[in-house]
Amino acid sequence: MTGVQPKKNLAVFISGQGSNLEVILNQKQAFQSVLVVSSRKEAYGLTRAKNHQVPSIVLEPKIDWSQLNSQLKAHQIDLIFLAGFMKIVPPDFVSSWQDRIFNLHPSWLPEFKGLKAIERAYEQKVGVGVTIHAVSSELDSGPILLQEWAVTRDEIAGLTLQEVIERTHQREHQLVSRWVELFS
Ligand code: GRF
Repeated sequence: MTGVQPKKNLAVFISGQGSNLEVILNQKQAFQSVLVVSSRKEAYGLTRAKNHQVPSIVLEPKIDWSQLNSQLKAHQIDLIFLAGFMKIVPPDFVSSWQDRIFNLHPSWLPEFKGLKAIERAYEQKVGVGVTIHAVSSELDSGPILLQEWAVTRDEIAGLTLQEVIERTHQREHQLVSRWVELFS
């Protein structure tokens, strides 16, 4: 068939639960292959990788970014998705993956960059969004690709923090699924 792009090899970087990784693994047929890279050996996302029979790399105890780059190239990785990856990606790594590395963040960026984004929005009783953006050298600051409200300002007053967190994660899962459709 003409015009059919070859499927890409995706690396998903995680540090914890991996519920967003699970969304991608459930759509893994959209990719040639999926590699899971975890900053923590006890991340439950590694169990999810095993359950889906995809390979994984653990970066503990210290991340050797140039060694990681060689491993990614050995796997012929085309695309990187940061799904709850709790380490700062160094600028030279970002620039070697420019336009091919994306991040999920639980806020309406550029509001509430960094940690505890949901909690901070909740404390200020403003809306909570979810964003997928291209990674740049500045934290949570690259060009925005997909963005949706998870809980609006009007809704937030009537909800507990836990309810807001749950709704935010559900919206993240929907956004990640859309990202797979658009970028795989
Ligand atoms: C998500 O809320 C993501 O936006 C944030 O960390 C969380 C990861 O959740 N950076 P999970 O590990 O994908 O369940």
